[in-house]
Amino acid sequence: MKDQYLLSPELISDPYPYFAQLRSTDPVHWNERHRAWFLSRYADVVGAFRSPDLTADRIKLVYEKQSSSRKEDLKRTFDLIRSKWFGYMDPPEHTRLRKLVQKSFSPEVVRRLEDQVDAACDGLADRLHGDLNTGEPIDFMEVFARPLPAYVIADMLGVPREDREQFEYWSSELVLMLFGALGSPDRVERTHAAMMQLEEYFQGLVRLYEGRPADNVISHLLRAEEEGRVLNRDEITATCIMLLTAGDHTTASLLGNTVLALSNHPDQLDKLRARPELVPQAVEEFVRFEGPLKVTVRVAAREHTLHGRTIREGDRVYLLQGAANRDPEQFSDPDKLDVERQGPTHVGFGHGIHFCLGSAVARMTARVAIRALLTRMPRFEVNADSVQWEPYMITRSLQSLQIRAVQP
Ligand code: HEM
Repeated sequence: MKDQYLLSPELISDPYPYFAQLRSTDPVHWNERHRAWFLSRYADVVGAFRSPDLTADRIKLVYEKQSSSRKEDLKRTFDLIRSKWFGYMDPPEHTRLRKLVQKSFSPEVVRRLEDQVDAACDGLADRLHGDLNTGEPIDFMEVFARPLPAYVIADMLGVPREDREQFEYWSSELVLMLFGALGSPDRVERTHAAMMQLEEYFQGLVRLYEGRPADNVISHLLRAEEEGRVLNRDEITATCIMLLTAGDHTTASLLGNTVLALSNHPDQLDKLRARPELVPQAVEEFVRFEGPLKVTVRVAAREHTLHGRTIREGDRVYLLQGAANRDPEQFSDPDKLDVERQGPTHVGFGHGIHFCLGSAVARMTARVAIRALLTRMPRFEVNADSVQWEPYMITRSLQSLQIRAVQP
């Protein structure tokens, strides 16, 4: 089967025909262009998420590709990720660190956060409403989708309000390397610069909350203990940067993709307006249908075979969640958006030991936001010509989404 590049303009705008072709003709495909195996069937992607033959330590390969003159400069960023971000680790270290951080994501913490998300949504929905009423087109990503998750994560972590703008900027720089903006030649340096600044910034916050504990993740992490071990300052700082990377851009993408999907499926929007009790299951459907993660990367820890193909130690393996979530073997009528769909489970938040730690926060944020938009947003239309997807390999995310109010 002919290789395709995930960053080609056609696949950035619509990867689903290629994903369908992979699923039906070559489910364990070696893509020479990416030098990676592409897994596209739901069962294989789930199997890969559970497989001890694959490691989550995938950042090493990015480091090895850097020229020797740059390696020394960038070393601290890569060391930080490899030694302190449990998202890139395997058991047993992954298990220990995840358990420590999990305590800051208890249902009680998420419930308390909901009031803050509600208040933030109210403020943003007011602004959206006001801007739309001028009759001019506005960028939904800029006015609502990007600020909301940044507020939520800033509140969770204990970032003061006055630092939020700077915080949002750092977040947008982090994703360049970590979500595969392969077309930006300076992506590694920009992410590195943001990492270094965030490290210093969070060290200051850790010192602040050491002396003055509050109800936020940093204060929880300062107290957290597992098997007699606690997190040191560097680990807390690194964990904060990981949470920002994992949770901000992904949630913003989900909000943008949801509004676009609803605008393309007005019958589903009407259904949600009429039956808002469907919102929680609709959130699952939005994550399945147009989820923020197209791909999760793994590396073969040892040689093994899958459907007769030999995957060698060190080979990269791409788990194509965007393909798995539309596998007809798993989902009936998979290319249809159906806000009444009830299961089966999608892999938009991953699967197995690395299953998204922030999924409850992401789901809650999306629920609160969608409810606010359903009640507060005037009828709108999307300017189809302006729809632009970010040229990222890992995430499916809108650069901008121009909308304007229409008369009912
Ligand atoms: C892991 C998706 C929001 C924190 C993951 C994984 C996926 C995912 C697919 C698994 C990665 C892997 O297997 O390597 C999403 C989506 C989100 C979202 C689609 C929004 C719609 C969040 C939020 C947070 C968060 C809001 C935290 C504030 C994490 C962390 C991990 C993770 C810490 C690593 C878990 C581990 O390795 O054990 N996420 N995520 N995510 N996510 Fe999320």
